[in-house]
Amino acid sequence: MEEHVHHEREVTRGLEGVCAAETRISYVDGVNGQLYYSGYNIHDLAERVSFAEAVYLLWHDRLPTAKELAEFRSQVTATMRLPAQVIKAIELTPPSSHPMDVLRSSVSILGMFDPDAQDNGEAANRRKATRLLAEIPTIVAALHRVRKHEPVLSPDPHLDIAANFLYMLHGRAPDEPAARAMDLLLLLHADHGLNASTFAARVAASTEADMHSALTAAVGTLKGRLHGGANERVIEMLFGIGGVEMVQDYIHGMLAEGHKIMGFGHRVYKTEDPRATHLRRTSETLCQRAGQEHLYEISHRIEQTVKAAKGIYPNVDFYSATVQHALGIPKEFFTSVFAASRAAGWIAHILEQYGDNRLIRPTSKYVGQYGRELVPLAERG
Ligand code: ACO
Repeated sequence: MEEHVHHEREVTRGLEGVCAAETRISYVDGVNGQLYYSGYNIHDLAERVSFAEAVYLLWHDRLPTAKELAEFRSQVTATMRLPAQVIKAIELTPPSSHPMDVLRSSVSILGMFDPDAQDNGEAANRRKATRLLAEIPTIVAALHRVRKHEPVLSPDPHLDIAANFLYMLHGRAPDEPAARAMDLLLLLHADHGLNASTFAARVAASTEADMHSALTAAVGTLKGRLHGGANERVIEMLFGIGGVEMVQDYIHGMLAEGHKIMGFGHRVYKTEDPRATHLRRTSETLCQRAGQEHLYEISHRIEQTVKAAKGIYPNVDFYSATVQHALGIPKEFFTSVFAASRAAGWIAHILEQYGDNRLIRPTSKYVGQYGRELVPLAERG
């Protein structure tokens, strides 16, 4: 009999509470319901700085000067246009494929066309960072145009990232309130500690894989309904419920059957997610403007019912669903819009990982068998 040294190991399911990296990028204070980007409270950033300023902050650990911001904005806008081959690849995707699958594959394809594809140096990575941030919203908008059999639009150099995205999506520049709401949505989703997709990005980066590979891993990880995929399910739930008077029965029925309510609960927040505070307010305003008050009312009633029944709070995905719907974004694109914003955080973390790297390679507790007798193929019954 073979001897096996078996160290008693505690397995932390889902790595809950495990501290796996040092970071300066963002801090999620789950007990007090606070979120900080590079030391700035999200409540101070929301509606006072633009998404572009927040991205600069996450990438440089300081806010830009007016000159730096103008330069950064024009660099991003100048690189929003996609290589023709990537548009062609998007056109070739099956019409039934999910936008997150198209985004995941497009980010991967972009890597092969990137002029710095084989260069993993600091300067090349900074260039790739700007290009990727710029290209992802264009992929999402281009796919929407292709699916509607409408021409893919080039970015408008006079518009910033949020307004450009809505312009390329709808074919007309958004009005001021819509552009502002879009910018806020992007800002609020930009980074969030060591969440699952960011962890995936850092794991890939820790092998010294290139930035496009790490981002492809992150997009795939965001897709799941326990992470960024929840926002699409939220709007489906709102449509499914139909009216405020049906909310109580629906929620109690779902909970009694042991189902989770999409857009609720969080691994870290044990109180209100500060991003939900801003998105709730924006949802109310935008739903009113769009004549969709009933969707906000249903959402609000769901929030009260889930809180009373389970003591859990809405997360970022809950009110972002109605905000995106009111902005005319189709539900199957919701998670890819989230990705267009979170790309900022993923990139910041990838750069941070490259800057002080050690391979991320945890271990597992083996609970299988030992010493099994090998039966040759011909004798296996
Ligand atoms: N609806 C009903 N009950 C819930 C919910 C929910 N949305 N979320 C958590 N709970 C309950 C669980 O059933 C569990 O109860 P129990 O202890 O009685 O069994 C308890 O709260 C703890 O939940 P876990 O699933 O163990 O918490 P975990 O930290 O593993 O999961 C997660 C967090 C995945 C976000 C979970 O809350 C969930 O599935 N929510 C719904 C999906 C969702 O909205 N995801 C988006 C998260 S935000 C983001 O990623 C961008």
